[in-house]
Amino acid sequence: MASTPPRGQWSGQLGFILAAAGSAIGLGNIWRFPYSAGEGGGGLFVLIYLLFVLLIGVPVMFAELSVGRTTHRNPVGAFKALVPGSWWPLLGGVGVLTGFCILAFYSVVAGWTLGYLFSSFTGMLGNISTNEASSALFTSLIGNPGQAILLTAIFMVVTVVVVRGGVSSGIERMTTILMPILFVLLLVLAGRALTLDGGIDGLVYLFKPDFSELSMAVVMSALGQALFSLSLGMGAMITYGSYLSDEANLWKAGGSVAGFDTLIAILSGLIIFPALFSVGAEPTAGPGLVFVVLPTIFSSMPLGNIVAILFFMLLTIAALTSTVSLLEVVVSYFVDEKGWNRTRSAVTIGAGCLALAIPSALSQGALPSLSSGGIFGWDFLTLNNNIWGNYSLSIGAMLFCIFVGWKWGIPKFLEAVESAGDRRIPLPASRFVGILLRFVCPIAVLATLVYIVVTGSYF
Ligand code: TRP
Repeated sequence: MASTPPRGQWSGQLGFILAAAGSAIGLGNIWRFPYSAGEGGGGLFVLIYLLFVLLIGVPVMFAELSVGRTTHRNPVGAFKALVPGSWWPLLGGVGVLTGFCILAFYSVVAGWTLGYLFSSFTGMLGNISTNEASSALFTSLIGNPGQAILLTAIFMVVTVVVVRGGVSSGIERMTTILMPILFVLLLVLAGRALTLDGGIDGLVYLFKPDFSELSMAVVMSALGQALFSLSLGMGAMITYGSYLSDEANLWKAGGSVAGFDTLIAILSGLIIFPALFSVGAEPTAGPGLVFVVLPTIFSSMPLGNIVAILFFMLLTIAALTSTVSLLEVVVSYFVDEKGWNRTRSAVTIGAGCLALAIPSALSQGALPSLSSGGIFGWDFLTLNNNIWGNYSLSIGAMLFCIFVGWKWGIPKFLEAVESAGDRRIPLPASRFVGILLRFVCPIAVLATLVYIVVTGSYF
């Protein structure tokens, strides 16, 4: 390349796909998806989730990427560039805040992953074969205040170091090798889980919708999960799209990221639910579900301890490529809009986020007032997970669709996506994306929110 671009840029289309897939694939797929599906009744949740991925997630993905690439800005700057002097940058601001708050509880769960990685090194996971033993280990690991905070802090520090290093050098390289290995390992684990005694019951639970489970809370949680898993609704994909070159094919890039991400979520369901039924755990166990169920699979495998080490290592890295994308959104806002340098932004924001993470870290038994039932019936981590991870992302995605569909306009959106002739998709297909963005997404989200507020069925 003749000149260095003024902002970071991905080394190419593949580099971008890997980095964006790195952002999307993380604890959302492996931790949040199974436990939300378990709480939402299994097959019905999965069905609604898949519909939302297709009808809302994929169009919003295209929309965020196109706004990012067109403006080459962070979420706030992007709105300032497209509609100067309007209120729209405020939506970008809420997105930045949402990223900050998601990072604050996400890093706690990432800390648990790290804790499990350490425990698998010391062999502590080696002979956990019953649900009870596994639950006891989980409770002791996350209920210890010093340990929970320390693990969160280690994770936050590593995230800061990577983000400080800048986009393509740090983020991209990590995903290139590790994502394929994670994929293969998940396949192996799914194979093991499905052949366990009673494993098939899990398959039925995961894919057979029970329509009597239908409620707006389930719809809301599936919508939140679709957006959370694809890293949408707060501008992460605007930010990642802003580092994308004008040659990249956005349809292909966005479509592949959504496809990979959904595949990994389903795969992780194919691991957790069969295993869960075979050890007799409850699908509704909540945030601890995956951490409790997984060790029991490892102990049923030859070389289980090595598999456990490998798995938690990969999961830690998958979580890291996601925390990096969350922090990157906030950092790029301070760098672009406030003129801070990268180091100062990354360190200051990371420290602030860690402070906000502490109550979440203490909310799993260490501090009863923040723990289960302490705050409006929830613990602090779950409360934040719902507010920022479901409601804020959904409202953000809805307003963003209104922006692209009605303010910026579908013709400009399509022009931004298809700026070279070879990138066109057939006209009816692009019209369909336009209809989804203008009507289907905003109305679906609004209807869900109104229903939930009216009936008070928050979760
Ligand atoms: N999608 C990631 C996961 O599934 C989490 C994540 C990263 C995220 N960046 C985001 C969620 C932006 C919402 C918005 O683990």
